[in-house]
Amino acid sequence: MALDVQIAVVGLAALAVAGAAGPSLRAQQRDTVPDKLAVTEPVYQGWKYYQVYCARCHGENATGGFTAPDLLFAITAEGGVTPDSFRVVVHRGTESKEMKGFDPLLDDELIDRIYAYVRERSAGRLAPGRPHRAPPPR
Ligand code: HEC
Repeated sequence: MALDVQIAVVGLAALAVAGAAGPSLRAQQRDTVPDKLAVTEPVYQGWKYYQVYCARCHGENATGGFTAPDLLFAITAEGGVTPDSFRVVVHRGTESKEMKGFDPLLDDELIDRIYAYVRERSAGRLAPGRPHRAPPPR
């Protein structure tokens, strides 16, 4: 066999091995590495509404912006915003009115979904970025 043909054969064999190893390695990673962008449907909805109504001030990932506070901190015990006060602030706006209320655009259900998104981010279960719906449990 001429040398270049031999090289070509070896190359093809290596490609075949790589092709075979690829998917199974990915499958292993999928099974062992927690997917920090996988969310339930309500949290996904919360992320969507957050992007539409809140992100321009509180930042794309809820970590705060130039003018608005970090919501990941705000909803911790130290930050002091409870699920109930979160609802009230979003309905009515803040006292300073730098943030206007979202009545009647957002009802309790939607606000709770936005809260659920912020809570997942705050608890570190959800990475920054665009989440995706978790696949149904197998
Ligand atoms: C126009 C900019 C703006 C938008 C849009 C906005 N906020 Fe705010 N938000 C602020 C500012 C500024 C503050 C804090 C200053 C103040 O008291 O007015 C604040 C405060 C808050 C607080 C209270 C934080 C604390 O520590 O007390 C919460 C909760 C909150 N925003 C949630 C939201 C949610 C959820 C949305 C989307 C539905 C939203 N905000 C949209 C500007 C905004």
